[in-house]
Amino acid sequence: MFSRTLLQAASLLPFLYYTVSAQTACNNSPSLCSKAYNNVTLLGAHDSPFLRDESTSFSTSGNQFYDSTEQLDAGVRLLSAQVHQFNDSNGNTAWHLCHSSCDLLDAGTLSSWLANISSWMDSNPNEVVTVLLVNSDDAPASELGAQFKSSGIEKYAYTPPSASTIPTTWPTLQSLISNGTRLVTFVASLSTPSSDYPYLMDEFTFIFENNFENTSPSNFSCDPNRPTSLTTTSAAASSGRMFLMNHFLYSTQLFGIETPDTNSINVTNAQTGTASLGTRISACSAVYAKAPWAVLVDFFNVGPAIASVDAANGVTSATGRKSVSTEQVEENDSGVSRAQGNMLAVVVAVMVAVAFGM
Ligand SMILES: *[C@@H]1O[C@H](CO)[C@@H](O)[C@H](O)[C@H]1NC(C)=O
Ligand SMILES: *[C@@H]1O[C@H](CO)[C@@H](O)[C@H](O)[C@H]1NC(C)=O
Ligand SMILES: *[C@@H]1O[C@H](CO)[C@@H](O)[C@H](O)[C@H]1NC(C)=O
Ligand SMILES: *[C@@H]1O[C@H](CO)[C@@H](O)[C@H](O)[C@H]1NC(C)=O
Ligand SMILES: *[C@@H]1O[C@H](CO)[C@@H](O)[C@H](O)[C@H]1NC(C)=O
Ligand SMILES: *[C@@H]1O[C@H](CO)[C@@H](O)[C@H](O)[C@H]1NC(C)=O
Ligand SMILES: *[C@@H]1O[C@H](CO)[C@@H](O)[C@H](O)[C@H]1NC(C)=O
Repeated sequence: MFSRTLLQAASLLPFLYYTVSAQTACNNSPSLCSKAYNNVTLLGAHDSPFLRDESTSFSTSGNQFYDSTEQLDAGVRLLSAQVHQFNDSNGNTAWHLCHSSCDLLDAGTLSSWLANISSWMDSNPNEVVTVLLVNSDDAPASELGAQFKSSGIEKYAYTPPSASTIPTTWPTLQSLISNGTRLVTFVASLSTPSSDYPYLMDEFTFIFENNFENTSPSNFSCDPNRPTSLTTTSAAASSGRMFLMNHFLYSTQLFGIETPDTNSINVTNAQTGTASLGTRISACSAVYAKAPWAVLVDFFNVGPAIASVDAANGVTSATGRKSVSTEQVEENDSGVSRAQGNMLAVVVAVMVAVAFGM
């Protein structure tokens, strides 16, 4: 019995070795482990849970073709969502993820979405994830915090040294991972941060953004737009805030209704070309003498957007991602179907290692 156990243990050694190797990557690359959280560029899925797929009958309000879990699998590391107050027919109030209004597109409760992210983080222990909530109906910190608690994700939450002062140095990805504080959370806005939920950070205390309601590629700008107190690029840079670069377009429909633009998404999310993601990252990196901390895109798989982010990070051979089709997902003649393509082809070697690690 004893020798059999030893034999079994010995047979696991090669896999343990590979597991350790695979886990030395942080956010899909070993080169990012020693970088400070504010010195990396994160790929952000704008309106992450709002899907244009079968589940929403290809809603034109949808901003993404693949869901939040698939986004994380493919290398997205910042997920944004709008939180709205939802009153059910019994008069009970809940906090749902809705696009503009819960009548238009309701992706369910905040806590169920957070629970999905939490279970992904359980299976991916070397990944730092950022959540950015747009607090559309001014939920107090206590109500948002209750959702973090009930979802199970609170255990991963990073708490900054101060709720009102920007850290002069942010932790490295490796120290966030080693400390078990791999979830970084911002809320736009949180008028009164709560000491009961100190991990809920007011977005514009720590971050500035460029403009975001753009309908033409010529509208893209590196200038600060929010918080409105920052009126010049030099003020934004010297404030110490991290730069979130919005890079998505709306198309204007009948009656002035704006929907996420799919017509030129392959151009918007491309790595090269006028007003492409890659070109805009370079332009804004020159303005701030530093790459953006995060970029926020629609339909992240097209482009693919991750190529421009890898270039900004100097990452050439990312590990541990699942590849996703770079095609748009369209409703076909006979109803609903995802685009053809090499969807979710697994990066085999790494997945084997990860599977044995679990
Ligand atoms: C972060 O970047 C700054 C330069 O922008 C550099 O001085 C600093 O050493 C970097 N720190 C880490 C830990 O990446
Ligand atoms: C939900 O109910 C609250 C309290 O009654 C009310 O203030 C709020 O406007 C309602 N929200 C919606 C979206 O109906
Ligand atoms: C959570 O994950 C489940 C299973 O994949 C999925 O059906 C559901 O839509 C997800 N919920 C949200 C809010 O993303
Ligand atoms: C790690 O956690 C310890 C104990 O909570 C804390 O003192 C330290 O500041 C944390 N380090 C980072 C980088 O967050
Ligand atoms: C965006 O660009 C279009 C076309 O150049 C222009 O008409 C519009 O005024 C711009 N919008 C803003 C907000 O700058
Ligand atoms: C974008 O898609 C259009 C239509 O399919 C195509 O003509 C164009 O060449 C594509 N552009 C890029 C940059 O991929
Ligand atoms: C269209 O969608 C249906 C239902 O998902 C699928 O069975 C069929 O193969 C699709 N056809 C094409 C041409 O993609």
